[in-house]
Amino acid sequence: MTDQNTYPPTKEFAANAHADKATYEKMYADSIADPDAFWAEHGKRIDWIKPFTKVSNCDYTFGDVSINWFEDGTLNVAANCIDRHLETRGDQTAIIWEPDSPDTPAQHITYKELHENVCRFANVLKFQGVGRGDRVVLYLPMIPEAAYAMLACARIGAVHSIVFAGFSPDALANRINDCNARVLITADEAPRGGRKTPLKSNADAALLHCSDKVKCLVVKHTGGQTTWIEDRDVDVKAEMAKAADRCVPSEMNAEDPLFILYTSGSTGKPKGVVHSTGGYIVYAAMTHQYTFDYHDGDVFWCTADVGWVTGHSYIVYGPLANGATTVMFEGVPTYPDAGRFWAVCEKHKVNQFYTAPTAIRALMAHGSEPVEKYDLSSLKLLGTVGEPINPEAWNWYNDVVGKGTCPIVDTWWQTETGGHLLTPLPGATATKPGSATLPFFGVEPVVLDAQSGEEITTTEAEGVLCFKKSWPGQMRTVYGDHERFEKTYFADYKGYYFAGDGCRRDEDGYYWITGRVDDVINVSGHRMGTAEVESALVAHAQVAEAAVVGYPHDIKGQGIYAYVTLMNGVEPSDELRKDLEKWVRTEIGPIAKPDLIQWAPGLPKTRSGKIMRRILRKIAEDDFGALGDTSTLADPSVVDELIENRMNRS
Ligand code: WTA
Repeated sequence: MTDQNTYPPTKEFAANAHADKATYEKMYADSIADPDAFWAEHGKRIDWIKPFTKVSNCDYTFGDVSINWFEDGTLNVAANCIDRHLETRGDQTAIIWEPDSPDTPAQHITYKELHENVCRFANVLKFQGVGRGDRVVLYLPMIPEAAYAMLACARIGAVHSIVFAGFSPDALANRINDCNARVLITADEAPRGGRKTPLKSNADAALLHCSDKVKCLVVKHTGGQTTWIEDRDVDVKAEMAKAADRCVPSEMNAEDPLFILYTSGSTGKPKGVVHSTGGYIVYAAMTHQYTFDYHDGDVFWCTADVGWVTGHSYIVYGPLANGATTVMFEGVPTYPDAGRFWAVCEKHKVNQFYTAPTAIRALMAHGSEPVEKYDLSSLKLLGTVGEPINPEAWNWYNDVVGKGTCPIVDTWWQTETGGHLLTPLPGATATKPGSATLPFFGVEPVVLDAQSGEEITTTEAEGVLCFKKSWPGQMRTVYGDHERFEKTYFADYKGYYFAGDGCRRDEDGYYWITGRVDDVINVSGHRMGTAEVESALVAHAQVAEAAVVGYPHDIKGQGIYAYVTLMNGVEPSDELRKDLEKWVRTEIGPIAKPDLIQWAPGLPKTRSGKIMRRILRKIAEDDFGALGDTSTLADPSVVDELIENRMNRS
């Protein structure tokens, strides 16, 4: 190691880990030398109904992209996450549910109870006519019923699509319609941080824009008042109580879709990322075990929401496939105070804790006292995901939370990848703050020159991050639009999967993510297409044009900076600014609300009318000394005006 600032695994950790350095290196080399032999072996971690005989059948040729893993095998994911554990750990806790309010008792749901609840939920879905391949949208708080609903879908072969409960009715309606869902599952209200989001009334508003055939299954969670539409609305808990507690799992093909999850891209509306059944569960389970060094009996806590892929792979599917105890938290890190995460770690004796850098930064701002109040001696490992972690946050996490004794795994991956692609293995990899380090088994990253698309073969390299070969957890298609799938990920750099991120590889072969190279921004670890926010803004009657870029934000990582050109004759005002913020909240959701709105009489455009975002990014970053070439602008004077009135003066 040439870098002084590295943190090698301790001897004790390495000795007890699933993989020490030698094991990682051997397994990794095997996984690249003969991927089919490697995955044939590791595919066995899952119980197959009919074992596969073919391992991989993948083609990255643009125009012909197809990805298949274990394609002649059959299985059921819910049976793998529940039934197969019943004999050995039926009475073990599968899910610890920690409610929003610390005064409400936590629930410990055993594998037996999980089985019963999932079967009942599956029977409720069946009774509503849901069958194999039907799409079911979930719009739920972080409650056990969210996991029951996911696994109930998996049990009967229905395809779930979770919409984060922070999205607006419009965003929900678009997703229900895009996948032509038969059923929407929601709850009366979602309590978070002591406040309640009226999910059911959002669902009512969304369903006004959907087919009247869509049924609405409602979990009465808080008991809050909701309007009730007979014939359409169904009381889930009441139906579950009446339903049978056994439901035979459907035999699914490995390549049948398990779920759709909408995510933002650089253009147009969000795309429905489709994940498979067999490859996904093998990959989610294996990464969960190795990355977090999960051992039987450990309590694992991933603080994500099930509305994001992290919640899919590392709250529900990965942990449960491994027979783990997984914590599901309804609340937020700062309620009732900034010690909540640590209170929960102490209360449930959490062993592995996995969160986002934005949460770490927010908590760091409250100092070390709220952490020190709690006994965190159960913690063995810490993890991060979602965005690059800055060294200050890394050091605080390491020193104050981990007391210098917990390895930190900085995991790089995406909705599209199903599970970790670049990550340290805690017993094997010396970490460096800010680096996602090395590839997981079977993963072959390459750094390409952004312009030429040539592979940079020197160890030290900087360019765009691509992958040479498929891995089992890779997305299979964009729902209903395979062409868009190919165009987004396989067109720019032929023969590779293009992740959309830039990266640097250092002299030790470690990968450092430098951020998105497309028009996607990362706000508090949430992916946001700038085009989505722009189209929401221009839908406002008083807005003529809008351009949205990201800018560095102390807590959120990136903030949303919007340049707005108003219609002729409309006067800018603080009131209008507030109105626009509110507008975006209702069009997309609170997470898309611009942090800064600058009135822009004109936007910098090329003579052909293309907005020069590079310039807008620089101004938003308050770094306009280095604007670069502006000679191709149609009217260079607009730039001076924008600089003059910039909103972010650091
Ligand atoms: C970013 C979240 C740096 C990256 C699992 C990626 C990261 C996008 C990291 C995917 C990390 C994720 N370091 N950047 N450890 N993890 N990202 O689909 O830009 O919500 O492309 O998946 O988040 O976001 P998504």
